[in-house]
Amino acid sequence: MRVVLFDRIGGARLRRPGGPSGAGVGLRSLTRCEKGMSLMADLTDRTAQQRMEAHHGQLVAAVDESVAALERACLVDDTLAAEAAAARFQTLLEGDILPHASGEERSFYAAAEPLNGALVRSLTHEHEVLRGLIDTCHACAADLGRPADRLACLGVAHEIRALFSVHAQKEDRFVTPLLLERTPEGTVARLFVEMHANA
Ligand SMILES: [Fe+2]
Ligand SMILES: [Fe+2]
Repeated sequence: MRVVLFDRIGGARLRRPGGPSGAGVGLRSLTRCEKGMSLMADLTDRTAQQRMEAHHGQLVAAVDESVAALERACLVDDTLAAEAAAARFQTLLEGDILPHASGEERSFYAAAEPLNGALVRSLTHEHEVLRGLIDTCHACAADLGRPADRLACLGVAHEIRALFSVHAQKEDRFVTPLLLERTPEGTVARLFVEMHANA
């Protein structure tokens, strides 16, 4: 039985033979070797590009949804709801967005740097700004008792949403196409595996 595919990284769900139908299995439950073998099963450069774009789409949508929930809670002046929404947003940022950025730096960025250093430095800078905003958001979320606190947290969340959306578009439009054009066949597929196998 083919064991492939991840909804956390831009595709369908990962299943193990004999596992419950439709039950996703977390990447961290697999060994590094298993992850790499599973990912490589069907992967070409083109499908890796498509999965990267799909994964970016999922992350952008998740950030949009999370910020919208925080906004709704802030606008109705509900401290408990705002705290819950801020906590969910923080989980998304720390559990998905930051590991994604670190994985890119180890794989896609490292491979693209000799081909276009300015592009990679620009994107790495955006990661640094993003990390700073996430730290600020975390600090703001610690106290949402007053309307001004909630609005400050919401402002940072909007900055994160705007930055991450444009940043992901830049990667899809410039980094992956650059690697497809300027590296040997199979490179993008390998980088995609490396990015997620080491997560
Ligand atoms: Fe990135
Ligand atoms: Fe990305």
